Amino acid sequence: MEHIYHQGKHNKPVFILLHGTGGDEYDLIPLAETLDPDASYISLRGDVNENGLNRYFKRIKPGVFDEKDLVFRTKNMSVRIHELSKTYRINQDNFLAIGYSNGANILASVLFHYNDVIKYAILHHPMVPLRNIELPDLTDVHVLITAGKNDPICPKEESEELIEHLRKANADVEVFWTNNGHALTQEEVEKSKQWIKKMSSD
Ligand code: MLT
Repeated sequence: MEHIYHQGKHNKPVFILLHGTGGDEYDLIPLAETLDPDASYISLRGDVNENGLNRYFKRIKPGVFDEKDLVFRTKNMSVRIHELSKTYRINQDNFLAIGYSNGANILASVLFHYNDVIKYAILHHPMVPLRNIELPDLTDVHVLITAGKNDPICPKEESEELIEHLRKANADVEVFWTNNGHALTQEEVEKSKQWIKKMSSD
């Protein structure tokens, strides 16, 4: 998986950045720099190619995921994050993963499968990655979800159901709603900034 690593200041967060469908590893760098210009980041490009669009897992059609592929790629992503922590000598507990849309969905799937990969996650406009699986105990996992009440791609009901699953698994979940469809808005960026500060001071 292609990636960009940027080393920031010591004692600052280390973001893992996961773009939306059709994006690449450069997409969320301005977001990371706005959230904390001193942070380190690792930005990963999705290695599924859907008619020229990068994604993190295959889908059958918009909104319908190829679950077999999703499970396979979720495992790969978890292994990859583990390897990256070794390569760059970063304690895995210091990672704060940020995903938008398809990136949020692979991240949600990582949380649905493993409780020792990501402790801090920001999911922008996520969906339920897959159903009928038992989630691990997510005590000590902190999640910020920002979603659009009128998002045509990741519907409100999907984000609501995801919040319920994560809370049932004992994750600490904070939620922020917007009214700007699927767009990632300035208000969400501000909310993320506050949440990151809160997590860093805990
Ligand atoms: C997905 O396929 O992950 C969702 O439909 C969002 C997106 O299109 O990226």
